[in-house]
Amino acid sequence: MREDVAGRSNVEDSEELMSYYRELEQLEAGALWTVANEIEPWFPKSTSVPVLWPYRRLREHVLRSLSLVTPEKAGRRVVYLCNPNRREFSAAVGWLYTGLQVMNPGEAASAHAHSASALRFIMEGSGAYTIVDGHKMTLGRNDFVLTPNGTWHEHGVSADGSTCIWQDGLDIPLMNALEANFFVIHPDLRQKVTFAVDDSTKTYASPGLLPATGSWSKAYSPLMKYEWEPTYEGLTEFANSTEGSPYDGVMMKYVNPVTGGPVMQTIGASIQLLRPGERTKAHRHTGSFIYQCAKGKGYSIVDGKRFDWEERDIFCVPSWAIHEHANASEKEDACLFSFHDLPAMHSLGLYREEAYGENQGYQPLAV
Ligand SMILES: [Fe+2]
Ligand SMILES: [Fe+2]
Repeated sequence: MREDVAGRSNVEDSEELMSYYRELEQLEAGALWTVANEIEPWFPKSTSVPVLWPYRRLREHVLRSLSLVTPEKAGRRVVYLCNPNRREFSAAVGWLYTGLQVMNPGEAASAHAHSASALRFIMEGSGAYTIVDGHKMTLGRNDFVLTPNGTWHEHGVSADGSTCIWQDGLDIPLMNALEANFFVIHPDLRQKVTFAVDDSTKTYASPGLLPATGSWSKAYSPLMKYEWEPTYEGLTEFANSTEGSPYDGVMMKYVNPVTGGPVMQTIGASIQLLRPGERTKAHRHTGSFIYQCAKGKGYSIVDGKRFDWEERDIFCVPSWAIHEHANASEKEDACLFSFHDLPAMHSLGLYREEAYGENQGYQPLAV
């Protein structure tokens, strides 16, 4: 790909150059100027496309898997969501994976650990639980729970519960891209619960309070379950005291209460509220996002594609895609849960953001 711009590759082919390229190929080498313009785009070019996954169409297929495979045979019984241009990486967008996991009462999946960071967002059913390194967490609708990388974790539904569906979110594709992905099954297939049930939330979820003794030095949040009721309450309280962002409405981050930083090293998560009738301005930024509508209904426009969403629908926003959100109701608020790779973007110094129409061009970051 030639470009007639000073500083970019603009070499015309010749007989001599073509045979030179073939000789380099024999040596497992190549001339940079033949690929430079392609591998160094002027701005991020995501191969992912914006996609909406309507829950009403997926749900019956997710439930059907209950009679097709057992969690024992499948390892995890999940229908994963695949971006048409990212199939080879099993990615929903960018380097993020997401899927819908379903479990019947009394079922449990084996304990395991992996390099990928993981989270779940509970969609329906009762009695779901997750155990992370001996911490058992009971899970209800719209609860957000972490299973950080390197932790032993397992999921199940108690015998007195009902069929549960939750959204899994992981950075499996990123771990594979970095060629750093490990997976290990717990030697006993199950782990013991070694702490009081829900101790993580009881210890770390009180606003503004941390235990006076003890310390937490792990790279992920010690608070591993963020319950919906206090989350929604916090969001609505904030909505009463702020105008919010013109681009995101009233948006809050789930954070590690000890550091104030992201919940995990590579994946972050947010919850945002759009007031009745609110429509945000469009912007774009680096980082891939996967949204789930947790409440209400509305629509988002992503790179010119309109997605009408309602509760439980999932959609993605690829890196650098222009996007805006709107609440379709004049009476009810709408809430969007999202997870993303911004912690990775920030720690690598790659985060960029701009309002739609304000293309300022790329300015190198001062180091
Ligand atoms: Fe896992
Ligand atoms: Fe955004």
